Amino acid sequence: MPFDKGRFRLSMGIVALDLDEWLQPDEYFYKELLEKEALLANQKSEVFQSIQGSQLAQQEVLDLIIDYMNRFHSELLRIDGDKIFVDGIRRNFSRKEFTEMPLDLAGRLVQEDLCLMAPGDTGYTLEAASLCFPSRWRLIDKIGKRMVDIHSPVPDYENKLARPVDRFFDKLDINKPVWRVNWSLTDDPDLYQPIRKTSTDYSRSINSKNAGDLIFLRCERQTLRRLPHTGWILFNIKTYVDKVSALVCQPEALVALAHSVKNMSTDMQQYKNIAPYRKQLLEYLDVTHRQCLDV
Ligand code: HEM
Repeated sequence: MPFDKGRFRLSMGIVALDLDEWLQPDEYFYKELLEKEALLANQKSEVFQSIQGSQLAQQEVLDLIIDYMNRFHSELLRIDGDKIFVDGIRRNFSRKEFTEMPLDLAGRLVQEDLCLMAPGDTGYTLEAASLCFPSRWRLIDKIGKRMVDIHSPVPDYENKLARPVDRFFDKLDINKPVWRVNWSLTDDPDLYQPIRKTSTDYSRSINSKNAGDLIFLRCERQTLRRLPHTGWILFNIKTYVDKVSALVCQPEALVALAHSVKNMSTDMQQYKNIAPYRKQLLEYLDVTHRQCLDV
């Protein structure tokens, strides 16, 4: 649980990553691969972008992903020379067809979104990404930008996080990858969320009884690692969405989420778009917590 300390604190929150657990395929593997395929077929520029000069690093990412899946999840991907088979959905890919944009192929083989950051004179910039499951942002608004500009809508990022994050990026060691979690709440469970909505018709029907089933907890498991050959940084995002009611009978999690929501700054509440259902959610968490203790 990303909010288990019960307070809302904007922090880097990074933890060492065991590379054997770099990618996390789960029961939605095939479903999400098909969802990516449809997005890439219908609106490619929204979900894939690359800047010239990123091809080598893209290739490095593809090689690492194939190697990892082959070692740890050969039941999901089968490699045969140039060909990669995803038998569970009867798909096969030829690496040769993706020589211009290897990151596009890499993104089609895993549930994670993949963002490539290159070092430059003014800090790290986003040079290529396969990003099918954005959390209320659009790739075309961020491609080519520096970290501080990418994060410009995030309250307090510039004064609290920008410098530590830039320093951390400069020092990130090839052998010391990390992971962190971002979380948000949403009334729309779709993985593809490019639009920052302020309110939806849907959220108007939320009350303190149904809040647990109509509000979703959206968590992003993010990993950061430096690529050994190019020295660029790869940022992966694996998105998990579940009903808030999935926390039923986890009293500590219910309390922690309620504390985080209560203690969040107004700016952050607005950024995370919690206002339309904040009151109903807090009532739901309170009642559910009490019921949970009574059982
Ligand atoms: C240690 C590294 C990083 C930290 C500490 C960090 C922190 C954050 C935080 C706190 C948010 C607000 C999310 C929320 O609370 O709902 C955010 C949003 C975001 N982050 Fe990061 N981030 C990091 C790395 C990256 C990287 C490498 C990218 C590259 C693509 C990135 C892209 C974004 C984007 C696009 C958003 C949404 C911004 C918007 O609303 O327009 N982050 N990040």
